[in-house]
Amino acid sequence: MPGRTPFYVTTPIYYVNDKPHIGHAYTTIACDVMARFKRLDGYDVKFLTGTDEHGQKVQKSADAAGVSPQELADRNSRNFKDLAQLLKISNDDFIRTTEKRQHRAVQALWERMLAAGDIYLGSYSGWYSVRDEAYYGADELRDGPNGTKLAPTGAPVEWVEEPSYFFRLSAFQDRLLKLYEERPDFIMPSGKRSEVVSFVKGGLRDLSISRTTFDWGIRVPGDESHVMYVWLDALTNYITALGYPVTEEGSPYARYWPHALHIVGKDILRFHTVYWPAFLLSAGLEPPRRVFAHGWWTVEGEKMSKSLGKVVAPEDLLEAYGLDQTRYFLMREIPFGNDGDFSRKAMIQRINGELANDYGNLVQRVLSMIQKYCDGALPKPAEFLEADRKLLGAAQSLLATVRAELDAQAFHKALDAIWSVIGDGNRYVDEQAPWSLRKTDTVRLGTVLHTLAETIRHVAILTQPFMPDASARILDQLAVSPFARDFKALSEAPLSAGTALPPPVPVFPRHVEAEKTEEGAA
Ligand code: MSP
Repeated sequence: MPGRTPFYVTTPIYYVNDKPHIGHAYTTIACDVMARFKRLDGYDVKFLTGTDEHGQKVQKSADAAGVSPQELADRNSRNFKDLAQLLKISNDDFIRTTEKRQHRAVQALWERMLAAGDIYLGSYSGWYSVRDEAYYGADELRDGPNGTKLAPTGAPVEWVEEPSYFFRLSAFQDRLLKLYEERPDFIMPSGKRSEVVSFVKGGLRDLSISRTTFDWGIRVPGDESHVMYVWLDALTNYITALGYPVTEEGSPYARYWPHALHIVGKDILRFHTVYWPAFLLSAGLEPPRRVFAHGWWTVEGEKMSKSLGKVVAPEDLLEAYGLDQTRYFLMREIPFGNDGDFSRKAMIQRINGELANDYGNLVQRVLSMIQKYCDGALPKPAEFLEADRKLLGAAQSLLATVRAELDAQAFHKALDAIWSVIGDGNRYVDEQAPWSLRKTDTVRLGTVLHTLAETIRHVAILTQPFMPDASARILDQLAVSPFARDFKALSEAPLSAGTALPPPVPVFPRHVEAEKTEEGAA
């Protein structure tokens, strides 16, 4: 759509060897918040997620499960698709690397890299971790139990010797360093950027980009005995979904590339900030705008792992706490970029404190007063006093703050800013005491309740990307038209006095724990 600025946001594509858990949900929700925010802010957004289906890890899991890799991929890809639906993810596309379009794009990219002279045939002998789908130098390994070696990630490694095509990564050191230098926000947060810069400064080895000891992958063009390294395959998904290799004017590629934000976990930073831009530069394509690496969740203080039984299934959380509550918690609990711990206690605290007591209470008491004191019709403001102007001013300046925070993927800070206005709103209610004005000054009452309703409208429009359902229910209760909920409407479509409002229904119930209720009953 010409005229609007393009914005492209992507999740990693998830391996189909496993079921989705809260870590996957986290990245996907963060991308969804970005996508929804940018749409409301007038951008032409494309939001991609999907599944990574090739490689030895998937092949091995399929063997262990006694099914073909394709069957495993079909089954688990469906799980990720279902999860996206359950989380109300607003993705525009869902890519699977086993699709034809992916084969076509990856092979085209390979041909370009080959034509550039950056691919040569050799043989690989070295360490490989199937769990990480990554090659490691001997100098990176540490000793594991029983004389074994472990990758820096703790994953087991095995010795591999096989014919392999190589990508001349070593030749890209200067170009990569120049990219990091010229575009300081290409890798975020900045601590992660420093890690990558020092890794690349330490020198780059050429990268093995094909395997011959198994066949679950995309064939190397012209040499059927090789399948491509799963990361070369996987990373290409981001341009496959834009129709690559079709790049001419008017194509989705021309429209959305390189306006891409790749949000990934810190575990896959190197693939996205070293290999990916090098592949693209080799093929004469531009690197994406930004790679943001977020931190790692532990659960109740422990690493999430199947063997420890600490995996949190997203559907269990939704059932126990609700979707918007879960989305809010994940975006608010830890600064995006840091590691953090998931605990039920922290979740309940935020639900009862910030959602029920702060946001829910503000909305509920204001709507109830309008219902009771104004016959359910939005009141008319008279003269605005200093306190009214202050609150309205804070609400009106929120958009600029939230926009700046989200442009840096600082979700927690954006929410903090919104909650500071919610706090102002609650204090204003206490100070203005509409319940007294009702008896003493109904003109002033109208102004106070109008000021509050306008404040809530601003807040609810801005919480939409984080909590789409709850925000919609609040806006419904304020009788805000579905067509007046984007950020333009913040200044252009204020509430109009006299509009009839439906009877209020609380949006954020308190969470009462099952055990507590039992205790209370005993
Ligand atoms: N298939 C690759 C990605 C290819 S992208 C071109 C892959 N898949 S994965 O299924 O292992 O997903 C990894 C991603 O899941 C992480 O980068 C992160 O986004 C998310 N997370 C998985 N576990 C997580 C936590 N414990 N905490 C936070 N995020 C986590 O790697």
